[in-house]
Parts: sequence; structure tokens; C-alpha cells
Amino acid sequence: MKATLITGASSGIGEVFARRLAARGENVVLVARSAEKLNAICNELGRAHGDVVAQALAFDLSEADAPERLFAETERRGLEVETLINNAGFGSQGEFATLELARELNMIDLNIKALVALTHLYLAPMRERRRGAIINVASTAAFQAVPYMTTYAATKAFVLSFSEGLWEENRAHGVRVLALCPGVTTTNFFAAAQMDFTPPGAQSPEAVVDTALSALERGRAHVISGWGNYLRTQAERLVPRSVVTRVAGSLFRPRTVKTEVQS
Ligand SMILES: NC(=O)c1ccc[n+]([C@@H]2O[C@H](COP(=O)([O-])OP(=O)(O)OC[C@H]3O[C@@H](n4cnc5c(N)ncnc54)[C@H](OP(=O)(O)O)[C@@H]3O)[C@@H](O)[C@H]2O)c1
Repeated sequence: MKATLITGASSGIGEVFARRLAARGENVVLVARSAEKLNAICNELGRAHGDVVAQALAFDLSEADAPERLFAETERRGLEVETLINNAGFGSQGEFATLELARELNMIDLNIKALVALTHLYLAPMRERRRGAIINVASTAAFQAVPYMTTYAATKAFVLSFSEGLWEENRAHGVRVLALCPGVTTTNFFAAAQMDFTPPGAQSPEAVVDTALSALERGRAHVISGWGNYLRTQAERLVPRSVVTRVAGSLFRPRTVKTEVQS
């Protein structure tokens, strides 16, 4: 059975991907840690779209062998994953030196390692079929350092670069690859990152997902969601990187961090 696999589908952007694609008649496989939430969404999608099969697979993708176990499970279920949406991810806020190292490394395991492993596992059959698509959720944080969200921004820079490279490598093999770069979006992200504020100018996850699906249709390598976000990332290219880094630092510095910054 053909299906779209979405990681981080229990809330936010991933949940909206699941809802949008099920409404288009696509079978969906929803992956995240919260089995109950996933089952509730799948039941709702099954009721709303009678011809659609929605399946929940509870995995902690930051565990070392989780991508391989997930791939084996979708194979066992006879699922032909035509579209893979690597969306699961989280961030943290604070001075890197004072953040818990285990959590920073866990973020790298989820935001980078699991994404790379899942891409590798599902890309091979897509290339054999000469058909498929992969959406990797990066961020506008991918375009510059973000002090006080330093590890997070670096993981997203990886996702953007990795996806653009794969876009070019796979064009001739019938597989489309898109890096989706949302700016601030109204989801659980900021609560999960234990941030003490939500930056202004947020988009809805629905707007972000619609931008992604339209960019995928047009064969784009990356897309920045929202005109304001697009213009900001373009303007940054005209300014020295150190200035951009300082401005980003002033925006994302937690209220608890003193501002005795030397010039
Ligand atoms: N919101 C924003 O402003 C924003 C901006 C740019 C980029 N993004 C990116 O968008 C993506 C989606 O985030 P969101 O904004 O929709 O936030 P969200 O509502 O917090 O969603 C995150 C999803 O990832 C899942 N997840 C977290 N840890 C996991 C793990 N170890 N294994 C499997 N699934 C895990 C969560 O489900 P469980 O807790 O059930 O596991 C949830 O479904 C992330 O990659 C994020 O970096 C967000």
C-alpha cells in the first residue's frame, strides 16, 4: 500500500501535514512518541476520510536504532513510502555552556541523526521505483547562527545543506527533495524548548504546510515560509555575518541572561 510517512505527527506542523495529506486522499503513517495522541488523530482521519488508511507508529526517533526499527516495521506492513516527511525535532534555549549536554546531544540525535538515517533508508526504494519525495523540515534558523539557540540553529543549518545536496543528487532519479524553512510558527515548539517567550510574527502551521506542498509540486530545493521571513533571510546576506549574529543574539537572549556583552 502506498503511503506518506510523517515524523513528529502528534502535534504542530507534522499533525497539519497529516491532516492536509489525508484530506487529499493519501494514506498516512504518523510517527512520534505519544501513542495516544497519534491513535486519536488516526481514528479521526479514518472517520473523516473513509478511503484513507491512517496508521500510528509510536517511536522515540532519538534512540540509536529507531530509524532502522521503523523502516523494518513499515516493510513488515507492506507500506510503500512514496513521501517521507522528516519533521520531528525540538530546540533548546540558553547559554550553551550552561545547558544540559545530554539534551543537546539528544537534539542532534533527533534533528540530524534520525533524519539522515530515515532519508537513507527510504531513499533507496524511492530511487529503485524512480518516484518519491522527501520533505526535511529545517528552519529560518538554518540561515545564520542563533546565539542562545546555538545547537538548534546548527542542526537546522545541517538539514538545509543536506537537503539541498540531495535535491541535486536525486533529480535525475525521479526523487524530489525539499528543505522546508518555517519561521516562528504557532505550535508546541516554544513550550517544548522551555523558552521563556515566543518571538513575534508567527505563522500558522497550516500556512507553513501549504507553502511546503506547493513548493514540492514546483520542484523547489528549499522554501522559506512567509514573505516576512523570506525578506529577512535575503536582507541578512547584505550585512556582515557578525552583525547578523549579534542581532539574532539580542532577539533570542533569555531574560535570565545578563547582557554584559563585550564589543
Ligand atoms: N514552531 C516553530 O516556530 C518552528 C520554526 C521552524 C522550524 N520548526 C521545526 O518544525 C518541526 C516541527 O515542530 P513543531 O513546530 O510542529 O513543534 P511541536 O508541536 O513541538 O512538534 C514536534 C513533534 O516532534 C515530535 N517529537 C519530539 N521528539 C521526538 C522524538 N524523540 N521521537 C519522535 N518524535 C518526536 C513530537 O511528538 P512527541 O512529543 O509525541 O514525540 C511532535 O509531534 C521541528 O523540526 C521544528 O524544529 C518549528
